[in-house]
Amino acid sequence: MNILVIGSGGREHALAWRLTQSPRVQTVFVAPGNGGTATGEHMQNVPITDIQELVNFARTEKVAFTVVGPEAPLAAGVVDAFRAAGLKIFGPTQAAAQLESSKDFAKAFMVRHNIPTAAYQTFTDPGHAKAYIREQGAPIVVKADGLAAGKGVVVAATLEEAEEAIDQMLGDGSLGSAGARVVVEEFLDGEEASFIVMCDGTNVLALATSQDHKRLLDNDQGPNTGGMGAYSPAPIISPTLHNRIMREVIHPTIQGMAKDGIPFTGFLYAGLMIANGPDATRLVKVLEFNCRMGDPETQPIMMRIKNDLSQVFELALAGKLDQATIDWDRRTALGVVLAAHGYPATPRSGDPITQLAPDTPECRVFHAGTRLEEGTLKTAGGRVLCVTVLADSVKRAQQAAYTAIAQTQFSGRQYRTDIGWRALPGTKDPA
Ligand code: AMP
Ligand code: GLY
Repeated sequence: MNILVIGSGGREHALAWRLTQSPRVQTVFVAPGNGGTATGEHMQNVPITDIQELVNFARTEKVAFTVVGPEAPLAAGVVDAFRAAGLKIFGPTQAAAQLESSKDFAKAFMVRHNIPTAAYQTFTDPGHAKAYIREQGAPIVVKADGLAAGKGVVVAATLEEAEEAIDQMLGDGSLGSAGARVVVEEFLDGEEASFIVMCDGTNVLALATSQDHKRLLDNDQGPNTGGMGAYSPAPIISPTLHNRIMREVIHPTIQGMAKDGIPFTGFLYAGLMIANGPDATRLVKVLEFNCRMGDPETQPIMMRIKNDLSQVFELALAGKLDQATIDWDRRTALGVVLAAHGYPATPRSGDPITQLAPDTPECRVFHAGTRLEEGTLKTAGGRVLCVTVLADSVKRAQQAAYTAIAQTQFSGRQYRTDIGWRALPGTKDPA
């Protein structure tokens, strides 16, 4: 069978690669793809992003099913368009994707269904927003309502910072319609974890746990990014916490969406804040929902899947996820992102990738912002590559990843040297 993957990041390269490992899969088309999917075995790039053209392509090529990587096409209704054409596609409808595309929708939904999250209010008027901020005090968090490509959240340490964020979002329109409404919410302290599940509308299959590193620099310093690295499993999610997250967050979300008449199908990613304390009492609150897999969390997660992922998607598309299982490699997978010069503010493109670590069963370099230009791989985006390894421990995984990074070169590359530090045995969170 042939499969279509929509997207062009490291997440999509990793999904496509895992799907090509199935003996039943001939070709994984990736639209529009990147330099890695252009050169991957049994992969083929398709230079299409328009939804109707994607529908036509899937029909003409008789793809068995389509998997959507990023949020933008989901929020634009790609799943609705494919289903209207009678084509199989794994992802949420436009209505269900509002869990990610509107922070206000997600917050109202969580309150309605008793899903734990930070206290909040939504504003369109800057004066009212600032009055609320002064009443609540700092630290406080200001979020643009709509999709803002990672630029829509300001964790303000002071009232001035929070008010400045309000002026920027509601005042000067710098985020366009994404910032026309803002959510102001309570600051939560603790450790973040990503919890990702597959849903078929009714049934849920939890993926392996993972955690990413959002800040640009070592020791979780510097500006927020899309994610500078990730690892799986995330030891913070003990079996006790896992059960609680399923019971307190995931099941109520899936049941709530079904009850509201917008059943959720696709990947559901809950970004969680887990307060410090003993497992049974640690408060778990939802920071955000994403209606897709995480990037770079997908890269280590895909390294750990041992069985045929295409069969899991088929069961999900048939509404039979209760019959699906995933065999996880027990080892640790860890991915380190190599970002372009100037990332995240002004990433530079066009640097030739002069050296790439060879792919082995324990180490793969997934591409994100790369393109193949007349046979030469060049940087073409903020996050360029994700060097992802499997090893017996977090320590060994770090060693293997950084050895492979030494063999992966392009001008201006930046990366963190401490990916996975929270998962090292005996590590105490300084926070
Ligand atoms: P979001 O896109 O909502 O996940 O926000 C991006 C990042 O901002 C999160 O990964 C957190 O690091 C931080 N953040 C968001 N909401 C809060 C909050 N209520 N309290 C503390 N930090 C937050
Ligand atoms: N790594 C965070 C995200 O994909 O949203």
